[in-house]
Amino acid sequence: MAKIGIFDSGYGGLTILEAIRKELPEYDYLYLGDNARAPYGTHSFDVIYRYTLQAVKYLFEQECALVILACNTASAKALRTIQQRDLPPMNKPIPDPSLKGNGCLPVNVLGVIRPTVEAVPGITKTGHVGILATPATVSSESYVLELNKISENLPSLQGGAGGRLFISQQACPMWVPLIEAGEHHSDGAKFFVGKYLREILSKDPQIDTLVLGCTHYPLLKEKIEGWLRYHEEIEESEFPVAIHTEHIQIISQGTLVAESLKDYLKRHPEYREQLSLGGTCAYLTTENANRFAQSASIFLSAPVSAEHIDLE
Ligand code: DGL
Repeated sequence: MAKIGIFDSGYGGLTILEAIRKELPEYDYLYLGDNARAPYGTHSFDVIYRYTLQAVKYLFEQECALVILACNTASAKALRTIQQRDLPPMNKPIPDPSLKGNGCLPVNVLGVIRPTVEAVPGITKTGHVGILATPATVSSESYVLELNKISENLPSLQGGAGGRLFISQQACPMWVPLIEAGEHHSDGAKFFVGKYLREILSKDPQIDTLVLGCTHYPLLKEKIEGWLRYHEEIEESEFPVAIHTEHIQIISQGTLVAESLKDYLKRHPEYREQLSLGGTCAYLTTENANRFAQSASIFLSAPVSAEHIDLE
């Protein structure tokens, strides 16, 4: 029987894992954080693709039938190539009579960008949307491309924006390193939250919806809300015109990805039927296992133990 693999460069995917386990507690999960090589978001396409493929192959070897790339950077840079080039040979029937059916069990890899993008038109009223993400996700333009694709088919948005979306992006290169270092409650984090929010709102002061396009960022949500709702640290003089930020909606991905996976499993019994129903979760990391377990326990508010692995 098979498990569901959840992969991220580090701790961020835990925000997705938590939401998935809440929605689908019956399955067995295997979490893999490539903490030793995080952050991915400042690496080139080739490196992100290579690291992600190594992780996906590793999870398949551990009997995962489905792997969720709980990482926007990996979803933006590696998902399509893995789905189109690497997965088909893995799904080829092999002549092994001990295996059921056509001789092989199907495997698949799913990302986090599409389920997030699908929620945006239902949330924005003005059509002015901001994407906060890693430098790699921003440069891939994945959010812009997917949002534009989706908005072509929209008759009009709630607020009558005529189906048009106005998308601004902001790379936040300091946020993941701060979270990986456990510094997300610090004054340094507060400073960098203000810095990137100021930058994106200077690009488009009419933004009414901000997408947290990195699975690490929900760990900064309180600080982001503090800045937007209570104007912590905002100096109005830094904006050309006074802007209001209290109404801005923040989209984080956990629930969206969890609901999308639930729907996927409903539509794909070939995966659902191979999944074991133990309700367990094991944790793997490329970093020191104790260090991972300690930080993960804080993020998940529950004790976990972890095992160290090497990816190559
Ligand atoms: N959680 C990853 C994401 O969603 C962070 C990437 C990184 O390691 O920079 O993009």
